[in-house]
Amino acid sequence: MKYFIHTYGCQMNVHDSEKIAGILEEMGYSLCDRVEDADIVVFNTCCIRETAEQKIYGHIGAIKKLKRINPHLIAVVCGCMSQQEGAAQRIRESYPFVDIVLGTSNLSLLKEAVEAAQRKNKFYNVDFVPYKEEDFAQARSSYPNGWVNINYGCNNFCTYCIVPYVRGREHSRPLDDVMAEVHRLLDEGYKEITLLGQNVNSYGHDLPDGVNFARLLREIGQLPGKFRLRFMTSHPKDLSDEVIDVIAQYPNICNNIHLPVQSGSTEILRRMNRRYTREDYLSLTEKIKAKLPDVGITTDIMVGFPGETDADFEDTLDLVRKVGFSSAFCFVYSRRKGTPAYNMEQLPYAVKKERITKLIATQNEVTKAISATMVGNRFEVLVEGENSRYKDTMCGRTESNRLVNFKCDKSLVGRFVWVEIERAGSATLWGKVVAEEK
Ligand code: SAH
Ligand code: SF4
Ligand code: F3S
Repeated sequence: MKYFIHTYGCQMNVHDSEKIAGILEEMGYSLCDRVEDADIVVFNTCCIRETAEQKIYGHIGAIKKLKRINPHLIAVVCGCMSQQEGAAQRIRESYPFVDIVLGTSNLSLLKEAVEAAQRKNKFYNVDFVPYKEEDFAQARSSYPNGWVNINYGCNNFCTYCIVPYVRGREHSRPLDDVMAEVHRLLDEGYKEITLLGQNVNSYGHDLPDGVNFARLLREIGQLPGKFRLRFMTSHPKDLSDEVIDVIAQYPNICNNIHLPVQSGSTEILRRMNRRYTREDYLSLTEKIKAKLPDVGITTDIMVGFPGETDADFEDTLDLVRKVGFSSAFCFVYSRRKGTPAYNMEQLPYAVKKERITKLIATQNEVTKAISATMVGNRFEVLVEGENSRYKDTMCGRTESNRLVNFKCDKSLVGRFVWVEIERAGSATLWGKVVAEEK
């Protein structure tokens, strides 16, 4: 019996898919490379933007044909898209060949659901059923990096965002559970730990004994052995001085902060309910750069939010140049039903399109300038694996989270090497290995 998982969306989903894989493997399924060979196919979905959703519905539709060839094929839809209000019903009506619909927080029901489907019964349930990760095995697929959830859900209610509605209220995982998982990963030979949360900086606010994110970083940062610690995502309103100091203090903690800004206009930020101003963000990034000289600051930016004027957009471009992000995920605002911004007056598509093109061009210039300064210098890189886009090429990341391509033996995956950067495209860096870890 074989399984195949389509994963969409953010790292949270990538990691949830490892949990899904773990449950299926315990039930006797094994992973296959082609969806055509699968006995069970899972769609772990995302609904952050409309384009993501449309693409997924297209892929789910294609299962109908596969089911004609393999009538025993079990189709599962889970994740953020199915957690939206009314979605389970909509899938049931429009895609009757889907056997199982689960949400974002009831993976503990997956086993029961698959057993029902094996008996030809449908299983639809998107209730929030909080689970303990410790209760099921995980089949990890991202060595040398191990994902570790530290908090779930979100309480911020940015006015454009669907996440609080589909991932539920924010709650922290107990410190001891997080630490036990980190220890396990390091014992198993993982070389990079990435802590996951929609807003890692508010970790611990609901835990006893004054546990907070800085304390968690310190506990992991001081562990012996060579490994890297990363985390995402940081909300600018909650990133404390203490956290910046801890990053500076422990060499294991990467000098890289993913700090989504969304807009460079204070008025748009206010309407987005982000709870910081343009000036707050600029002084925060100045402080970070002063304390962490080699830091790579990365971000998410959105254009075309309702009411965004040309002047607001110019403020965003100006901020992009001022901060000098090492990279940025740039998005066109997408109207999400159920969010406050849904009811605001929307901008025409042509305006959004023009702005996203300009934004991407501006960020490319910034990245290119940073890349140029890296040529000729040496950086420590953790070898991750082959770069699927180029033949016979391996890749890995610098501490600041820039992807570097180079040639080396495949046996070096999971090892640290020093790479000298030889040339740079705008985002892509190419180099040669000049030293290997002993
Ligand atoms: N919790 C993270 C972000 C999670 S969503 C944070 O607060 O930073 C990842 C990114 O998707 C967001 O940073 C935002 O830039 C983008 N995004 C969220 N909702 C969106 C929408 N409705 N339209 C377009 N982009 C959106
Ligand atoms: Fe969405 Fe805002 Fe929460 Fe991030 S902080 S998940 S953007 S509501
Ligand atoms: Fe998408 Fe859900 Fe992540 S909506 S971005 S998969 S939290």
